[in-house]
Amino acid sequence: MTGFSSAWLKLREAADHRSRNAGLAEALSGRLALREKVSVTDIGCGTGSNLRGTADLLPDKQSWTLVDYDAGLLESARVELAAWADAAHAAGGELRLEKGHKRITVAFRQADLSADLDAALGETCDLVTAAAFFDLASEAFIRRFAKAVAERRAVFYTVLTYNGISRWQPHHPADNAVTSAFHRHQLTDKGFGVAAGPMAPIHLSDQFQFAEYSVQEGDSPWELGRGDQALMDEVQAGHAAAVTEIGGIDAAPLHSWASRQLSGVYIGHTDTLAMPV
Ligand SMILES: C[S@@+](CC[C@H](N)C(=O)[O-])C[C@H]1O[C@@H](n2cnc3c(N)ncnc32)[C@H](O)[C@@H]1O
Repeated sequence: MTGFSSAWLKLREAADHRSRNAGLAEALSGRLALREKVSVTDIGCGTGSNLRGTADLLPDKQSWTLVDYDAGLLESARVELAAWADAAHAAGGELRLEKGHKRITVAFRQADLSADLDAALGETCDLVTAAAFFDLASEAFIRRFAKAVAERRAVFYTVLTYNGISRWQPHHPADNAVTSAFHRHQLTDKGFGVAAGPMAPIHLSDQFQFAEYSVQEGDSPWELGRGDQALMDEVQAGHAAAVTEIGGIDAAPLHSWASRQLSGVYIGHTDTLAMPV
């Protein structure tokens, strides 16, 4: 397991939502606007941030299936979604949410995407989505995934896939060495084989074009500064931990890199929208 904590997912949620690419969000909204109701499958859902960030783009009646292999995160999703909604009712294993004009049914599915993708995706849905997920996956998984989504003729929308760009303020002499060691760590197996890491957006675009989808991409960088200190500190600590694990930088420069007070961080992400033509 990759072991994402609900505290980390909560810390990043506001930055994730404000960083989404507005043009792609609008294109998704336009594509599904005429449907009376949409069914959505969110893979690697964590605590449900993607639903909270996407529900406004979709028609008023929505039925979501949230998929993750971490039972603890699925439970947190249930709690956080109920707190986010104006009203929430449990119905069997599902949640029925009211949020403004939206009426949202949420089902929770514990499944390992790498072990049984078809069971995780279910038989059919209008939209398959994910947030901050695909850099963990391998190129081979992305190939299988695009094929499985295309077999369902579903629209695909993913946000906040890391694309390899990082910049730190103030500059430190070890910035480039840390970034390249971090990228080596990104390629380590996160449960799907050699991870795509910063190549994930390119693989997603290639594989969906291969499946004869029309693909649009847009930037969705984190541009962190004043007001984001806790998130910047966590990103810095996370990079230092990954680099310590993968090795290649001496302890003294890494300690110096990790100890400086950051005033700004830019982390590049790509959003991808792929639609059957
Ligand atoms: C970076 S978190 C993103 C969570 C959420 N989408 C968000 O934006 O806050 C990646 C998520 O993918 C899930 N995940 C990773 N590998 C998985 C697998 N093989 N099967 C199912 N879920 C997986 C993790 O448990 C975690 O919730």
